[in-house]
Amino acid sequence: DVADSPSVRRLSAWDAAELQTLVDEYGSPLYVLDLERVRQNYRRLAAAFPDADILYAVKANALGDALAALHEEGAGLECASAGEVQRALEAGASGSEVHYTAVNPPARDLDWIVDAWHDNPELTVTVGSEDTIDRLADRGYDGRLCLRVNPGIGAGHHEKVQTGAAAKFGVPAERAVDVLEDAADRGFDVVGIHSHVGSGVSSDQLDSHREFVARMGDLAREVSEALRASDSRTGSEATREASEAVGPLEFVDVGGGFGVPYREDEAPLDLASVADATREALGEIDARLTIEPGRYFVADAGVLLTDVNTVKAARDTTVVGVDAGMTTLIRPAMYDAYHPIRNLTADLDADERETIPQTVAGPICESGDVFCADRELPATERGDVLAIGNAGAYGYEMANQYNSRPRPASVVLEDGDARLARRRETVDDVTQPEREAHNGSETDR
Ligand code: LLP
Repeated sequence: DVADSPSVRRLSAWDAAELQTLVDEYGSPLYVLDLERVRQNYRRLAAAFPDADILYAVKANALGDALAALHEEGAGLECASAGEVQRALEAGASGSEVHYTAVNPPARDLDWIVDAWHDNPELTVTVGSEDTIDRLADRGYDGRLCLRVNPGIGAGHHEKVQTGAAAKFGVPAERAVDVLEDAADRGFDVVGIHSHVGSGVSSDQLDSHREFVARMGDLAREVSEALRASDSRTGSEATREASEAVGPLEFVDVGGGFGVPYREDEAPLDLASVADATREALGEIDARLTIEPGRYFVADAGVLLTDVNTVKAARDTTVVGVDAGMTTLIRPAMYDAYHPIRNLTADLDADERETIPQTVAGPICESGDVFCADRELPATERGDVLAIGNAGAYGYEMANQYNSRPRPASVVLEDGDARLARRRETVDDVTQPEREAHNGSETDR
């Protein structure tokens, strides 16, 4: 049901017996992603923004199966690195459906992207600095170019993800016209402007969203006017006609950031009012509206399953030791993020368990490696399986091998079946690059 917004279908909606079976079969910790839910989330958002072009921000969950499902639903793919572009192309996206958003891009990324552009000339490259325009020109790139601007307005669930005001992102909006005129003069195919206010924007930040979008609308009009006035802007009339754009700018990309509820009592975003506010704040523009959400599509479609290996009475709390940790899901350690936790074994047990405050902790040697502190949960027992909710976005993507821990496996659910989508890493995988170095195998410089 497309109307079933993220809050309604929280962690409790997952089938405990089915999840338990997955851990029995594939081991723990285990990421599970429900592709049907990903598709529903896409359809709901697409219905709220019928006249926008939608890109999926791959960084939220880059699993090939997720990309393929979203691409099949109609999403283009917004990529933050060469690796993500490779994933997008492997998932079946064509060059015209791929945007590469370069944030201080490494030379190796640009080399790779320019190579990929030769095979996919409709690829769009979004840059956030004049140096990157030069670096692209040095490599012979004169393809589709979008400028990321910094509007000086941020929003989001945590200071660390409020990109719109962070100096590292984009060219200050006041400089955009000059930079784009110059790029057009140099023969680039200037197609759009872009900005991303931040991630996890909630309903109570709608005012910042409005102000941000209004600024993008103003800028779009200013840029269009400047480009229209400039004679040099005729280089790619053919592309422009083919894309059915009405003005000199093909699109205005206002980023992603649509928040989803993580806490049981949080209300979901009212998509209709976000969409209305967006259109109203943007005003009349001679270009398509593009949005590029990540989290919204995948967050509540994923759970992280983890075995309980130890339970002990500590000085002030009960500590539940699980095999997932900050290397598996870093959001609690990094942003103090709340993730709902459900004890699947307790739910499957006939006996009621007492509810007591518990601290769920991972196996990493840092005191910050906890998923929750003193949270009221049914008394956990050794051997239980816990499910950590809303793990579909920025979960596996931010996993790492700290403490030389292999990353977990990922399973997807589709058409009533579960299948392994990415195997579990082994301890051998952790040491393999060193073995290769010692054996003198060829390495990437
Ligand atoms: N577009 C750009 C240019 C972005 O940088 C991002 C996210 C998105 C789109 C998608 O934002 P979303 O719709 O997913 O909010 N690791 C953090 C989130 C960092 C997001 C960074 N950029 C977290 O776990 O909350």
